[in-house]
Amino acid sequence: MERIAVCPGSFDPITNGHKDIIIRASKLFDKVIVLVSVNPVKQSSFTVEERVKMIKAVVNGHDNIEIDTSDGLLADYIRKKNAVAIVKGLRAVSDFEYEFQMALANKKLYSDAETVFLTTSGENMYLSSSVVKQIASFGGDISGFVPDCILEDIKKRLMRKNT
Ligand code: PNS
Repeated sequence: MERIAVCPGSFDPITNGHKDIIIRASKLFDKVIVLVSVNPVKQSSFTVEERVKMIKAVVNGHDNIEIDTSDGLLADYIRKKNAVAIVKGLRAVSDFEYEFQMALANKKLYSDAETVFLTTSGENMYLSSSVVKQIASFGGDISGFVPDCILEDIKKRLMRKNT
């Protein structure tokens, strides 16, 4: 049986932290689906199409990684795909309570899958999409925070003139 894991998130935009977790997950499972969650209530900076395009560029060459989108419950998606795991990155203690709650809720909704937490690499401990967006919007240097292949796209979209 093919062991499928799903890495869900907003990816608004994908960062080096996300990339690290996705690639590491792809070494643990037969297939990884990067699932871009579409939440009409949540204000996002990038369209779903833009987010998918950036993720595609970042995981290019990794044959067991796929990208998909969903506007429904994660548990329903996991069931539909017969996935065995939800993979999340855990940065610090501050992430834990929220992630713990989601893991328990997802387990209750669909008990056949496990939530697996991968510890974020030390250099990405502080990194989030929000931090990237804030720095970029003030014209700060986000190289090293996001993969090189999407750096210019993100800069173009987020930098605002401060003059
Ligand atoms: O990158 P984010 O915004 O922290 O990701 C949160 C995400 C997308 C993983 C979470 O909001 C989610 O799973 N959304 C899908 C809807 C759902 O299943 N919600 C209940 C989760 S217990």
